[in-house]
Parts: sequence; structure tokens; C-alpha cells
Amino acid sequence: MQALQQTADLVQADREHLLHPVAPLYELEKTGPFIIAEGHGIFVRDNDGKEYVDGMSALWNVNVGHGRKSIAEAAAAQMSKLAFAPSFWGMANPPSIQLAARLAELTPEGLKRFFFTSGGAESNETAFKLARYYFRMQGQDKYKIIARHGGYHGISLGALSATGVPSYHDKFGPTCPGFLHIPAPYCYGCAFDKVYPQCEIDCAAELERAILREGPETVAAFIAEPVQGVGGVIVPPPEYFPKIEAICKKYDVLFIADEVITGFGRTGKWFGVQNWNVHPDMISFAKGVTSGYLPLGGVALTERIYEGIKRPDTVFMHGFTYNGHPSCCAAALANLDILVGEDLPGNAARVGKYLQDRFQEFYRYEFVGNVRGIGLLAAVELVANRETKTKFAHSLKVGAQVAAAARANGLICRAIGDVLVFAPPLIITRPQVDMLVDRFATALESVQKSLPV
Ligand SMILES: Cc1ncc(COP(=O)(O)O)c(C=O)c1O
Repeated sequence: MQALQQTADLVQADREHLLHPVAPLYELEKTGPFIIAEGHGIFVRDNDGKEYVDGMSALWNVNVGHGRKSIAEAAAAQMSKLAFAPSFWGMANPPSIQLAARLAELTPEGLKRFFFTSGGAESNETAFKLARYYFRMQGQDKYKIIARHGGYHGISLGALSATGVPSYHDKFGPTCPGFLHIPAPYCYGCAFDKVYPQCEIDCAAELERAILREGPETVAAFIAEPVQGVGGVIVPPPEYFPKIEAICKKYDVLFIADEVITGFGRTGKWFGVQNWNVHPDMISFAKGVTSGYLPLGGVALTERIYEGIKRPDTVFMHGFTYNGHPSCCAAALANLDILVGEDLPGNAARVGKYLQDRFQEFYRYEFVGNVRGIGLLAAVELVANRETKTKFAHSLKVGAQVAAAARANGLICRAIGDVLVFAPPLIITRPQVDMLVDRFATALESVQKSLPV
């Protein structure tokens, strides 16, 4: 049978047969999907050939940009050689071993052992289970996981229980017991109504208070994204993570850094935690490890955890069929060659600085309340009143209007409420940043003009 090609046919088939993730299903049936068919570098094309700047690297993941033949060839070569071999029961395949050894050269000191998964949620599920299992193997019943409001860790039930964005929980509860949340370091809308630096980083001190309230003997781990992504690109003040690290150490609570977005160069360092020189016990990763060419994720863990779970006459009863999938690992190896060979973390630092500087210009629009970011991760938060930080009425959907106007101008960005977020491919150049900034400025201008005064 001939595959559907024409946009109208695809839209009709989509309406009839696809259930979309994280989508307004009712409205989507009327609007139809936005179909992306091709990509090259930082650009993608829709099914009718219109080109857009991919200001989101698809879903925060296409770090090396679209159309990289070396990744496609590596995956194809591996598929032609071997479809699949499991990693269960002590089996393995060469690409998964090679990838673990290669990652060990790139991950922060002390994290040289890897468990592979197929994505971010599986990685965090693994990290939570590892934390519980590790302590239980030491004879301790530390099982609680502390996460943060605004944190996004995936939406399978365990990961969802750590995710701190209420809209993802609505009508899916109850979530798993043993998970709790504390405020994030969101300085623009501080949960404690304090102002940095007089606040003395009370949001980090809250971790200690939460551990003491729960009982340190019950708390296994704290999980945080180095920079919250879905939460609206929340960059912590410099003192935040060192303080968090010290509290975790004090109470023997494992520190899990969720680097699913921030890993593999996004913030201008290989891993986000390296911006603050802190040392997590585990890093969960996904997205950028293959730049999305094939699904892969994983957890990097310390030898302390590994030694703690490696005991005679016990079996580590955790795993997923696609752990260490050979073609996904081959794609990851080719992707790492590009990230290293083109020093893309370095480009994210240099061009990211330029992007952050140019984004400051958006303050010329009165409804821009806050511009923030690090490396090639940025956000523009819109407010009805800059002085009072009053938000727009939800029904106005101002953020969605700006994202739609940007798309009409040939720029894809994402509206999370009234926060517009950006994560362009790490290969972006300065002239391309100018293009992105100009297109977004036009969108801001047109929406600001249309707002009721
Ligand atoms: C920080 C973070 N963790 C975990 C996840 C979940 O990853 P996945 O959708 O691959 O399960 C995401 C996805 O966006 C994420 O941003």
C-alpha cells in the first residue's frame, strides 16, 4: 500500500487514528496536527515545505541538529549486523559496552558506570529504584524521594510522582506514596516571597527542613534538574546547588541530577551540574545522548552505589527489554563523535552567551516580565503588569498567541502558559540567533499590539 503523503490525507488519518500525547484532544480534532516532515541543521520543514527555525531542538533533544548522515549510517550499519541482543542475565552487545566506556570519558568525575534505558522517565524510575534498593541492601529503610515544584521527570507513574507540575497529575492519581515536593529556586516568583541574595537561599534550606520533618532515616534521595526545563527554564542562583549538595551529604540522602534536558552540552558544559561544581550520586539522562535520532536514556551512578548493590547471592531485579539497544547505542556513539568533534558544548557556551545578551532586548516590550537562561536554554516570561508581576488571565492565552505568531513568522518555540521557552540546536550560529531573535521580536510586537489595554 502507498504511504499517505499529501497533507490533507495525513491530517485526516491523524484525526482518525492517532492518540496524541500531552495534547488538547478536543481542539486538536478541529485544528489538525502540525506535521513536520524534514529537517536540516537548525531548520525543519512542514509537510507543505514551509521552513522554520527549530527553536526547541524538536523536544529539547536534537542537540547536533537535523540531517546528520553519520548518525543515520551508524544506526543502519548496526541494524544490518544485529537486530537486537538483550542485556538481561549478563548478556551484552558491543555498542552498549562501547557507549558505556565512551560516556565514562565525558561524565563528571565519579560517575563512570551506566545503566541504559529508552528515555527520561525510565531513567528516573531507575534512579529512584536504585536509591531505594541501595539503602535496603545496607539494611536501611530509606525510601522517600524529595523533588521540587515545577520539576519535570517524566510521566510514567513513578516519574510522575516526582514531577511537580500539577497539570500532569490531574485525574491520573493517586500517584505513588513516598514522594514529596519542595519549592524550586524560582527567584522571579519566589515561593517564600523573598529577594535574592537577602533570602540566603531559603529554597535550599527548605530541603533540610523537609528531611527533618520526614525523618532523615526515611529519605532516600533528592531529585532536581540543574535547570528546570518544563518548569519554565528556572536557573538557580549560584549558591543553590552547593547548599543542596551539603544538605544531602549531611543526611545521607542521594542527590539525583535529572540531566535529561541539561546533559550533553545544552547549558554550555557537558552536564548542567558542572556549572556549579557539584557532584551528584546519580545523573539521569536521555534526549541529547542520541540527539533524538533514536530513543535512548540512562543513569550514571557512583561506584559507592554500585558496590552497595553488588552482593553475593542476590539478583538485581530491574531492567527494560531495550536496555542497551545496539542500534540506539551505535547512534549515541556517532552523536558523541559530533558533540566532541565540533565542541558543541563550547558553542553552546559562546553562542549561548550571545543569545542570552540579545534576549535582554525583549525587555523593550512592556509585557515581558522576565528573561532568563543559560547556554542555549532560555525563557521569556510574559506578565500583564511588569511592576506588580500580575499574570494575564488564563483565558487570554497570551503565551499561546505569541507561539502561534512566531510559528507564522517561521520560528518554532514553546509556550508553557505565558512562559515562552527556547532550546535551539547547539550548532546554531550568531547570524542564526539574530534570525531567531528577529522572528520572535516580530511575534511579540504583533501580540502586544493586539492585547486589550
Ligand atoms: C528533565 C526531564 N526529565 C525527564 C523527562 C522525561 O523524558 P521522557 O519523555 O523521555 O520519558 C523529560 C522530558 O522532557 C525532562 O525534560
